[in-house]
Amino acid sequence: MTDFPAQADVLIIGAGAAGLMCAAVAGKRGRSVLVLDHANKVGKKILMSGGGRCNFTNLYTAPDNFYSENPHFCKSALARYTQWDFIALVEKHGIPYHEKTLGQLFCDNKSRDIVDLLLAECREAKVQIRTRCEIQRIEPIAGEGKKGFEVHTALGRVVCESLVIATGGLSIPTMGATGFGYEVARQFGHNIIPTRAALVPFTLNKRALARQQELPGTSLAVNASCDQGHFHEQMLFTHKGLSGPAVLQISSYWREGKPVEFDLAPGVDLPEWLSEQRGKKPESFLHTVLAEIWSKKLVQFFLQRNGLESKPLKQYSDNALQDVGAKLQTWTLVPEGTEGYRTAEVTLGGVDTNEVSSRSMESQKQSGLYFIGEVLDVTGWLGGFNFQWAWASAHAAGGEA
Ligand code: FDA
Repeated sequence: MTDFPAQADVLIIGAGAAGLMCAAVAGKRGRSVLVLDHANKVGKKILMSGGGRCNFTNLYTAPDNFYSENPHFCKSALARYTQWDFIALVEKHGIPYHEKTLGQLFCDNKSRDIVDLLLAECREAKVQIRTRCEIQRIEPIAGEGKKGFEVHTALGRVVCESLVIATGGLSIPTMGATGFGYEVARQFGHNIIPTRAALVPFTLNKRALARQQELPGTSLAVNASCDQGHFHEQMLFTHKGLSGPAVLQISSYWREGKPVEFDLAPGVDLPEWLSEQRGKKPESFLHTVLAEIWSKKLVQFFLQRNGLESKPLKQYSDNALQDVGAKLQTWTLVPEGTEGYRTAEVTLGGVDTNEVSSRSMESQKQSGLYFIGEVLDVTGWLGGFNFQWAWASAHAAGGEA
């Protein structure tokens, strides 16, 4: 390939959210920047994100919305490049957007708008981008007064001063996700916090699936709890198990064998509500009054699951109604597993942040090497937080690399 640059001040591997943002920031500082990606096009995850409308940030982004073995790590970058900075960039490019719910900002049109924004910023900063480029090996340049890296690729050899790893996590391998970033980190002596699929649907065993075979596509608002996590969002029944925002969020807290608890009528004290209903309409059947809270299909499912028959409310004693209300209120289950990286939105764990500068994202093991975005052990909640981390960590590295 004749036009393949043999030298760059900054070489970025990964043309996703973090890589493109970092490229634009470094390029605007006057650094010559080359971005390489093995996929056939840039920003594939951005394109598929937010159901095609990219939930590009969250109005309420704060360090508490992120998991990491080192919860303080994300604070500096998030404080120096905030959601308001990214919103200003979106507005500068005239991209229409709206808040959907809970501070989640989505494009009015298509995710493509965000990829175009990043590419326009990169063009302005004279960034060079090459796709379909396999990275073969990385060698640090050693010797008196020398620094940098020699990177061997399928398109040619590049020498760079700074090397930024922006290859993301393991989720959705069909979109180009690889463990490349972790391999590079290990090559330079970094520790990797064990990875696992997160923001991912739960799978249930065959028996449980048979019980809910009428329900796929049905959703309801729940409070989902597991360990330290509590989320009030929608839960969705699927052919494989359970999904929806509440389930995706709580999956990041779940570990094999642990129970997950769902309050199926958040904000309603079901035992008390049922006794009120009995006072008002004693002749009504249990399933009829419950249909004021849940769809008929769900009422039937929750009654069957608890082995409850439906009788006129006047036929329940105080104690019996308390018991029925308590059983219906809470559903505790142990998921069989998750759908894994095939459908997970993100990867928990990654490059140990105790060995990376929280100011610049530079490795403390190898001068000139940077890690940004999802490859690091920083994972956001559902709702635009993961992109905000990509922008913020990329901005921090782009200002130094
Ligand atoms: P990202 O994955 O974006 O980019 C990594 C790049 O590196 C890719 O272009 C890849 O091809 C390249 N690469 C990987 N291995 C390589 C190798 N060996 N050699 C060369 N290149 C390599 N977040 C959010 O905040 N709001 C949302 O709406 C959504 N929605 C969403 C939907 C779905 C279906 C998924 C899977 C994920 C989301 N996310 C999200 C999460 C979000 O997409 C994710 O956190 C960011 O894209 C991470 O940005 P990075 O730049 O770190 O990695």
